[in-house]
Amino acid sequence: KKSEAWSARFSEPVSDLVKRYTASVFFDKRLAHADIQGSLAHAEMLAHQGIISAQDHADIQRGMAQILTEIDAGRFEWLLDLEDVHLNIEKRLTELVGDAGKRLHTGRSRNDQVATDIRLYMRSAIDDILALLRDLRLALVDLAEANADTILPGFTHMQVAQPITFGHHMLAYVEMFNRDAERMADCRRRVNRLPLGAAALAGTTFPIDRERVAKTLGFEDVCHNSLDAVSDRDFAIEFCAAAALVMTHVSRMSEELVIWMSPRVGFIDIADRFCTGSSIMPQKKNPDVPELARGKTGRVNGHLVSLLTLMKGQPLAYNKDNQEDKEPLFDTVDTVVDTLRIFADMATGISVKPDAMRAAALQGYATATDLADYLVKKGLPFRDAHEAVALAVRACVDRQCDLSDLSLDELRGFSPLIEADVFSVLTLEGSVAARNHLGGTAPQQVRAAIERVRKLLQD
Ligand code: ARG
Repeated sequence: KKSEAWSARFSEPVSDLVKRYTASVFFDKRLAHADIQGSLAHAEMLAHQGIISAQDHADIQRGMAQILTEIDAGRFEWLLDLEDVHLNIEKRLTELVGDAGKRLHTGRSRNDQVATDIRLYMRSAIDDILALLRDLRLALVDLAEANADTILPGFTHMQVAQPITFGHHMLAYVEMFNRDAERMADCRRRVNRLPLGAAALAGTTFPIDRERVAKTLGFEDVCHNSLDAVSDRDFAIEFCAAAALVMTHVSRMSEELVIWMSPRVGFIDIADRFCTGSSIMPQKKNPDVPELARGKTGRVNGHLVSLLTLMKGQPLAYNKDNQEDKEPLFDTVDTVVDTLRIFADMATGISVKPDAMRAAALQGYATATDLADYLVKKGLPFRDAHEAVALAVRACVDRQCDLSDLSLDELRGFSPLIEADVFSVLTLEGSVAARNHLGGTAPQQVRAAIERVRKLLQD
């Protein structure tokens, strides 16, 4: 007697190598809960439609309840011989309840079954990620609020550009994670559709009720074409694209945290519990968590490309290629979930060093633009103002001093429009406070932005 559910038409068993090559149970067993949930909804519909008996339905429910217990207790025996999660569970069900187990697969194929399982799994993964994105944003908003007035040099080209506040800088990341949450929620809409009922590819001859199954499983709609239903993995690609952007944002933040924590910069410290030491250099405290997050971004980007490549050459409808969708998808979920969780936690362990930030902001003529704007407000065209200030900066570079170190007379040498009120314009606090419009770095705007985000995160 042959072991495979489909082997009756074969005259010899598959080789061990082929068995190992084609089996997916060691990674797709992660879909077990979704698989059982989907099977129960399918069985309920079959019974409701009179396709199986009420007794069969009751037996299936009883068997599945026991299987769930076995899986959760780690007592379920997963067999490579049974290929995948679906056949493992079905075989056990039949062991437990007999013929009712053999009737479960009526009007269904593993093709629509696996597509349903993945969608159920992804829906809950997206919900987890949305909750974690919220936690991270709340932590960053707290950090922003505590530093709404903390001066930080803003950089372009890694050169000091203009003073900003650390709170404003944190809120830039909050904006990115807001968009990430939007993308995940949008992706969820297309995940949340039911492929079951497509069967292998053409639909089924049984009088099924797909809407009923969709409702039971909480799907918003059914997939409208049976060929598309079993062969579509767009939703997985979309998810990986959204995940790659999440990681890209985390990675950019990581890069900054690593730079900021370098003793050469010293803008922040990260709590010891997120850092590690060196096996040879006793003095070291390394920002391993952000570095690793930056590194892990590469594998998530890779998974996106894997899935795109997986799909690009597949003719309709289902092909075994699709089995390769799972590992990239699962690893993407694991990586994003772990990374967001640790970042939400780590954000509360970032301590800010305002003196170092301030000293750095005082170094690169960060208020030169303010001086040019000042001259414009006195009537000078901007290009002329730009040139006058550039000459002043050049003189300061030669003398190794700051703009505010020049006397009023010296400053007036660059433009007679300069008066005693210039010195308030040259301060860091004056510079940030002056950028007081929607989206600007003024502490008042930072506080207003924090309020907006808090409100958004409440809903
Ligand atoms: N393990 C398979 C997968 O992950 C399940 C579907 C298999 N269907 C088939 N006809 N071989 O895609």
